[in-house]
Amino acid sequence: MAIKAPVKAQGSKTLFQKMGQYVPRAVSPLAPFIISEGRGALVKDLEGNSHIDFTGGWGCLIVGYAHPKVVRAIQEQAQKFTHTDCSVIMYDVYIELAERLAKLAPGPSPKKVIFFNSGAEAVENAVKISRSYTKRKAVVVFEGAFHGRTYMALTMTHKAKPYKEGFAPFCSDVYRMPFPNPYRNPMDFGRWEKQLFSLVNPDEIACIVFEPVQGEGGFVVPQEGFVQFLRELTYKHGIVLVADEVQTGMGRTGKFYAYEHYGIEPDLVTLAKSLAGGMPLSAVVGVQKVIDAPGDSAIGGTYVGNPVACAAALAVLDIIEEEGLLDRAVELGQYMRERFEQMQQKYEIVGDVRGLGAMVGIELVKDRATKEPAPDETMAVIKECLANGVIIAKAGLYGNVIRMLIPLVIKEDELKRGFDVIERAIAKVSH
Ligand SMILES: Cc1ncc(COP(=O)(O)O)c(C=O)c1O
Repeated sequence: MAIKAPVKAQGSKTLFQKMGQYVPRAVSPLAPFIISEGRGALVKDLEGNSHIDFTGGWGCLIVGYAHPKVVRAIQEQAQKFTHTDCSVIMYDVYIELAERLAKLAPGPSPKKVIFFNSGAEAVENAVKISRSYTKRKAVVVFEGAFHGRTYMALTMTHKAKPYKEGFAPFCSDVYRMPFPNPYRNPMDFGRWEKQLFSLVNPDEIACIVFEPVQGEGGFVVPQEGFVQFLRELTYKHGIVLVADEVQTGMGRTGKFYAYEHYGIEPDLVTLAKSLAGGMPLSAVVGVQKVIDAPGDSAIGGTYVGNPVACAAALAVLDIIEEEGLLDRAVELGQYMRERFEQMQQKYEIVGDVRGLGAMVGIELVKDRATKEPAPDETMAVIKECLANGVIIAKAGLYGNVIRMLIPLVIKEDELKRGFDVIERAIAKVSH
């Protein structure tokens, strides 16, 4: 598909007018067009223009839009049956997917896997499992965390605007701690521990939930040694360690589970987003003795582990393996870092370049010495990219991080073209 600048022509315009009339204003898409179809990392709008999607549907499209194997798996499963509710009749694809995700999870303990619909639901259930296992109440989360929008997950999410404003009251027994951010907030781990236990006694903490790389929080890779420190601390005090891998999982960082980078084994891991190639599916992968704590029918839901979504997920796992997408994530990450580091040398506004594997982001600042965030300039870069056929998104507590959630199947020329557009946008905003 040739890349042309998007124009809001008639088809999209009419639909956007209807959207204004019939869809609440909380639904506010980033892209100024309506999609007609997508392939790989490209989307076509109703007017026939093509765009490169560097957001991959918020990180759900590691294998790209409409991968033929995912499409075929969905079609074949849909022809057999689309639903039973696994608590009434169990099916093969549920069990096969559980087996594969458990076997992909390194660490000495045997694992089991349970499925849900969304990332938030997986997080909520990880908390329920932790409480059931420990018989404790407190949940510890981090500054900059994003865990979803249902009430417990929203309580655990940090950012007030746009997520929490006006939705109080929230859930009780959730404690928020600083996240050791090497760029903005390096920390002494001993002091971190003292701060935590001044807030809540260790024997009251059910779980600590962390993102191996903060996603919505601004693609923050934690300070070296922090994840290992968390693991030791949680073992010492009988606290369940939950890795929320909704955004980092499925190979995005160059390893199937991002926790592998830290050489630890969490007790519970949440997965969603790219798990089923965009079909709604999430999972909690857990160490057997922890995940088996809730009893018969204690956790579940009508649609959880939908068979069509499970079939899609099995196809996604095949594609990751067959197309070497873990290695590709590393390669893409190297390319992105190099390009961004070149931009950092040329443009003062690029304050930090960071990431793990293909999860790469840049932080835009008004002044490199004070690190004052540059949210308006970030939005200007995003708009300039959108106007030139490249969809990129922001992140970060201050809205000044540009994050790459590129489909790992992207072609070289699309990647290069996309980065040329980003560089021109940064150059324009810098002058
Ligand atoms: C780390 C993390 N956890 C949980 C969620 C929530 O997932 P969902 O939107 O599927 O509920 C997200 C979504 O962005 C996420 O990035």
